[in-house]
Amino acid sequence: TLTAQPFPEGFLWGGATAANQLEGAWNVDGKGPSIQDVMPHGIMTPPTDEPTPDNLKLEGIDFYHRYRDDIALFAEMGFTVFRFSIAWSRIFPQGDETEPNEAGLAFYDRVLDECEKHGMEPLVTISHYETPLHLAKAYDGWTNRELIGCYERYARTLFERYGQRVKYWLTFNEINSVLHAPLMSGGIWTPKKQLTKTQLYQAIHNELVASASATKIAREVAPQAKIGCMILAMPTYPLTPDPDDVWAARLAEHDSYAFGDIHVRGAYPGYYLRKLREEGIELEITDADREVLTNTVDFVSFSYYMSVCETADPAKRIVGEGNLLGGAKNPTLPVSEWGWAIDPVGLRIVLNDFWERWQLPLFIVENGLGAADVLTEIDGVPTVDDGYRTAYLREHLVQVREAIADGVDLLGYTWWGPIDLVSASTAQLSKRYGFIYVDRNDDGSGTLERYRKKSFYDYQEIIASNGACL
Ligand code: BG6
Repeated sequence: TLTAQPFPEGFLWGGATAANQLEGAWNVDGKGPSIQDVMPHGIMTPPTDEPTPDNLKLEGIDFYHRYRDDIALFAEMGFTVFRFSIAWSRIFPQGDETEPNEAGLAFYDRVLDECEKHGMEPLVTISHYETPLHLAKAYDGWTNRELIGCYERYARTLFERYGQRVKYWLTFNEINSVLHAPLMSGGIWTPKKQLTKTQLYQAIHNELVASASATKIAREVAPQAKIGCMILAMPTYPLTPDPDDVWAARLAEHDSYAFGDIHVRGAYPGYYLRKLREEGIELEITDADREVLTNTVDFVSFSYYMSVCETADPAKRIVGEGNLLGGAKNPTLPVSEWGWAIDPVGLRIVLNDFWERWQLPLFIVENGLGAADVLTEIDGVPTVDDGYRTAYLREHLVQVREAIADGVDLLGYTWWGPIDLVSASTAQLSKRYGFIYVDRNDDGSGTLERYRKKSFYDYQEIIASNGACL
């Protein structure tokens, strides 16, 4: 039986978004194209050469023009934190310029004005799956060391401009996902199948150096800023008690842990160096890189959607269809309509593991349920009767509460997609996460009107009671 423990005072409650899934206005006010503008169908389909009209992200949900009203709706739910990303190509349209685009910077000033108006702490992701297209095509993204300098210029620009207004920063969204989605996560134009391991791991190294370098810059330019890494967390359970399966699960977890270990401890762990050695991966790592990596983070943030299983026996490996990063399907868990395993206890496990491993404050910056909502009317007002979303929310928050009682130091919780937006993996709008319904369909039709779902009021109540009503 679970014991009720209060959430700490000042616990940050809110929602998380990303520019490319939300803003639209893809070529407005000097914005250059990003890789997302040529990924009309998500991560499973190759990119197009130029932006094509079938890409829902080009218009997103038009947050670029509706941000005031949308942030007011977040405030109505009681948000005390709003996570958003800055579209890199609004600030540096090609990515390799030396001077930023003032109109792009001004947009985020206006977004921050609204956050301040409503007493909402901004939580800003510097790079969320939206590398400028030019950096992908001309440099092959993060495989190229040149990107470190481009990113440093971009990060310095942001810290100088917003450093007084933004306390919490994340350097790269789900930095470990480059292992699985090299274009979306690493801006790498070379198709995944043709990419060598050396190229991929060099890209990882370059991103890790850039991330630590951003921390170093923030220490100079905005010393009060708190810098976090951001990891796609997916606890991996052994499929059976066979020790070989237990070890297979551990090895799979090392793939993600390495990113946290390097950000928190400032150096490559032994198991990672062994992997590089055994797989014949020789990286260019300079002494200066090693020095930069010692600029470690203030907190660790992560997304959590699902757990998976792992086994040493390929014959037992039934890969679950929506299990983003592979792994074996867990026969004990239900799955979402998109096949993602639903595992609230897994969130408690992640929180405890990360806290015990790193002893730094944690931040859950994504968790949520994508579902095919049906719009209905109650008393003549359009809404969605989404009890399943509230159930998911509550079940996960109960485990968060337990983890806090276990002693985990947790800064806050931001639900992924508090307003319906375009899916990252499938580019659909019909994979809805929001507490707010957006009238837009996968074929691009719809008025873009916003409607409060039932879960809007449930989350409002949870926040108002600081989690006591769970
Ligand atoms: C995370 C990403 O992987 O999961 C988000 O950081 C993404 O950008 C979210 O939207 C949910 O995934 P999807 O594919 O359902 O949009």
